[in-house]
Parts: sequence; C-alpha cells; structure tokens
Amino acid sequence: MCGIVGYVGQQNASSVILEGLKRLEYRGYDSAGLAVLQDGKLEVAKHIGRVEVLAKAAAPHRFHGTTGIGHTRWATHGGVTDANAHPHVSSDGKFALIHNGVIENYGQIKKFLLSRGYTFKSETDTEVLCNLIAYHYAKEPAGGQGGFPLLECVRKTLRHVEGTYGIAVLGIDFPDEMVAARKASPLILGVGDGENIIASDASALIGRTRNVVYLNDGELARVPPRNFTVSTLDQTDVSPVVDQITWSVQDADIDGHAHFMEKEIFEQPQALENTMRGRFSADGSTAQFGGLNLTPAEFRQVDRLQFCACGTAWHACLVAEHLIERFARLPVEVDYASEFRYRNSPLDRNTLFFVISQSGETIDTLGAMREAKRKGYRVLAFNNVVGSSIAREADGGIYQHVGPEIGVASTKAFTSQLMLGAMLALYLGRLRDLSFNDGVEYVNALKAAPGLVRRVLEQAPHIRAIAQRFAAASDFLFLGRLSLHPIALEGALKLKEISYIHAEGYPAAEMKHGPIALVSEKCPSVFFAVKGEIFNKVVSSMQEIKARKGPIIAIATEGAELPPGLADEVIPIPDCHEAVLPIVASIPVQLLSYYIAVERGCDVDKPRNLAKSVTVE
Ligand code: AGP
Repeated sequence: MCGIVGYVGQQNASSVILEGLKRLEYRGYDSAGLAVLQDGKLEVAKHIGRVEVLAKAAAPHRFHGTTGIGHTRWATHGGVTDANAHPHVSSDGKFALIHNGVIENYGQIKKFLLSRGYTFKSETDTEVLCNLIAYHYAKEPAGGQGGFPLLECVRKTLRHVEGTYGIAVLGIDFPDEMVAARKASPLILGVGDGENIIASDASALIGRTRNVVYLNDGELARVPPRNFTVSTLDQTDVSPVVDQITWSVQDADIDGHAHFMEKEIFEQPQALENTMRGRFSADGSTAQFGGLNLTPAEFRQVDRLQFCACGTAWHACLVAEHLIERFARLPVEVDYASEFRYRNSPLDRNTLFFVISQSGETIDTLGAMREAKRKGYRVLAFNNVVGSSIAREADGGIYQHVGPEIGVASTKAFTSQLMLGAMLALYLGRLRDLSFNDGVEYVNALKAAPGLVRRVLEQAPHIRAIAQRFAAASDFLFLGRLSLHPIALEGALKLKEISYIHAEGYPAAEMKHGPIALVSEKCPSVFFAVKGEIFNKVVSSMQEIKARKGPIIAIATEGAELPPGLADEVIPIPDCHEAVLPIVASIPVQLLSYYIAVERGCDVDKPRNLAKSVTVE
C-alpha cells in the first residue's frame, strides 16, 4: 500500500526521498509525490505513474531544501489523479502532509473546515488533515505567527480523527523539523548522524541507517535533525527504544535477477535453513522455539488451535491445520482474518490463537489478533518483519528469518511459514503421542527440505518450457488433495496475481462438482499426483479431465506410474515426508506462475492493483 519517506538533515532531501520511494515501489502504488521546505516555502511535485516520472519533475536544482516528505499512493478515496496524489497542502499554503490509512470521519471534518473558509483541491480523505492542522495553528493566541508548535497542532488534529493513519507533516514556519504520527499504519523513525528519516517500511531507510525506533499506535514524533522526541496523543512523553535492523541493503537488492520474485524463489533453500536454524532439540527428536512464552505444561492445556491470516498466509494456515491435526491430533480451525474479526465466532476456553503474517502489518490480521486478545485469548504469531505491529502486539511468536521479501507475490515467506507450521506440528505432537523415533525421522525430513527444494529448482528450464507452451491460456485449474489442496489454492493465487489469468484451486475430487464446466482445450489443469493412498483417486480425476480434452500438467512424485499419455507435461518432485511435501510441491507452481507471467510480459514485481502489505480494510 502507500509508502512514506520523510527526511530532515544536511543532504538534499528530494534525493534521499526519491531513493527511499524507489525502495518502496514493491508495496504497490499508482502515483508519487514529494514536498520540500525551502526558501520559506513548500515546493511540491506529484504525478500519477512511477517514481521515475516524479524523479524527472523533481530535478535537484528545483528541489534543494534539506527537509522534505515523499509518498507513493495506492488509491482508496478518490481516483488516480495528480490532484489526489500526496503530499497535500493546506489551503493557506502553510502545511504539507502525507498519509497512509483511511480517515473515516473526513466528511464531517471537511464540512466544518469548509464552513471556516478552507478549500479543497482533491477528492481524498487526507486533505482534511492538513487543513485541520492549519485551522488549529491559526486559532492559537499567537495568531499563527509561529507561537504554537507544529507538534501540538498535529496532536489536536488527530484527537478529532476516526480511522487509521501514518502521517508525516511539514510546516513553513518550522524549517528544520517534521512531525510524524501513527495509528494502525506502520511508521519507523531511522536515527542517523545529524539526520533523521521517517518511513513506512525499513527498506526505505536501510541505505542510511540501521538504528530505528518503531513508533507505536497513538504516538507522535517531533523530528528535527538531532534529538527527536516521542509522545502520545494525551501528551505523555515516551522514552523511545532504538532497535537495530539486522539485514543489510544488499538483502533488499535484486542481485542480478530479472525480478525480485525470481530472486526470492531461488533463495528458498537458504531461507528454509534460516527458518530452522537453532530450532531443533539436542536429541534431534523435536522442535524448540525461543519466543512462544508458553511452558510445555501450558501447551498441554490447549484443546484447540485457531489460526487466522489473509491470502497466501491463510494457505499456510491450512497446511498447518492438516499437519497439526495429523501429527499432534489437536483440532484446528482456520479463518480468514477479515471474517474472524467481525463474525464473533464462539471459541472454546482452552483455545490457543495463532496469526500468520509475513509483513506483520496486514490490517485484517492485526484486527483479528486484537479481537482475540480482547476476548482474553493468548495470541502467538509467525511473522517475518522484525518489529512489525503484529510482532510487537503478539503474546509470543516465531520469526521466519527469511530477510526482506520484496516481490508482491509471496514465495520464500510462504515456504518458510509452511516450515514453521510443520515444526509446530512436530513440537505439539511430541508433547502428546508422537514417538521419539517418529520425531527423529520427522526432524531429519525437515532438515532435508532445503536440498529437496534445490533439486526442484534445477528443473526451472523444463518448467519454463511448459510455461511457454501454456502462457496463452485464459483459465487454469489447480487440483490437489489433503495437504496439497492449500498448495493448489496457492498455485491459483500466484498465477492470478502476476499473470492476470483466471485460475481456481480446488480439492481434486471436488472438481466434478462445478469447475469441470470450465474444462476445455484452452483450460489446462495442474494436478498434484503424489504417491500415497489417494494417488489412484487423483489419477481418476485426471482421466475425467482428459476425457474432456483438458490439457494436464502433472506435478508428480518421481517414479509415480501415471498411465501413458495421461499428462501432457510432467514435473517430477522428489518423494518426501508428508511434513515436507507441501514445501517441495510449492516450488513448481511458483516457477510455473512466474514464467507464465514473464512470457505474457507482465510486471511481475509490481502487479496491477496489488500491494505487498494490505494496511487498509
Ligand atoms: C501473496 O502473494 C499475496 N500478495 C497476499 O495474499 C499476502 O499473502 C497477504 O496480503 C497477506 O500478507 P501478510 O502475510 O503480510 O499478512
């Protein structure tokens, strides 16, 4: 979603901001803009389209000031136009503001401001904020002559606001400072040497500093080049904790790959190693986690697990459900976070709640988590971004440790979530009835996963050729059973996201109850045909598709005996333990979707309408 960068220091602010905005492009946006304080005025440029368009307009000779704010906008209120792009400037020309989030009561505020003579140039909810700041500034005894601090005007404004926000504000009477504030939209303060940066995402500031302060909901920061302060909406001073970002700017670089998605697909063996590191017991029979904050005895009290997430992370929950029920014999419920938070589902008393989120900022997942906590449940999280809102608000959790995921289509974060789900199933199973020997076999299987993934990745040229053959299809079916049903859903989601081909994932046997109507020569079906008790059933489903002239791509266990001629293409995957199978089976569908999207000339890392982290409802 929208991206925020603000800079105050000694350098040309527009250059720093443009570099930060480029690093935020992956979040998804439709327009970009910046405002710089210089010569006692606000210089503003904003345009629909890419950051390069803005960069051309914001030539350094025009923007020479050292205090500025910049934004990439993902439209919510108001169409994609130059006027609706941020920053917005108050109608008296004194304040500029950028905003992520949604101001729900903007209609009332706008009516009030119009009655006081303020005017509006955009259709956005955001513009009310800068005009309300101007109103509070002008209203003070000093008559807007600089007697009343910017921080206080922002604070007064935010007290009237319902909704969500991450904002950064400049004022012409405050040449060397910006004010930032957040509620439910992430905001990080990067602490530099004689300079400070505000950003919605660490990747925007990692090139300048690794020292960061994660602002909490309801906090405001006054940010001059040195000695920033943090306080709350009710004027309580906060002692900020400065954290260190552990990954480097290289981790967020494309490193010679055509796309971040490609880079991240091929990083998966290493990412899986990182997710597992230090998380097996000394006797090699179970998993161990440092941050769950529950004792084994407390885990034994749990009768049921409830998982919530969105999108790809929701698919990871479905796989976790399968493995936990299978190996720990504990019942698991999985809900879309967006549904859970409103449907008031009855929860058993001894339910343990888990959320899964790569970004840790998905607003629906955060909302579901807060709802569960409000009801008194303990909530644990799988999360990749250290210091994210979910990581900070959860009662405990497990970091994925896969480094920044920049591609909008999640790949390495997904397989790492599958790994954590498999490890949790093992841990819970060993607390119950899973034997020592079965535990050792399970651990060894997990440790083998990176090598197996590497073997599937070696088939990239073969999968690319298959992608070229089917890239013109208008519909795809992805069909799998048991733990591979979620991988079928994930395959369909991946393809839709980046190639814009209509795709559906289904349990293979359910295909007869509707989706089979789509089958034709132009609708390929991707089947997971793996050895095991349901192999023959899957083969029967394949026959039914073949009988209707549907092309078949089979992702099949090496050596599995498919009837000759049944599959048009076969992608072999290694035979492996049930806990690892979803991870291994994910790789071919990631590669297939990626190569199809490339073949169709799609912008893989910035798919239309999508955002990396969905921070609005
Ligand atoms: C993944 O390819 C998607 N872009 C999307 O479904 C994503 O998984 C979802 O928005 C949840 O994000 P999160 O893991 O950051 O919460």
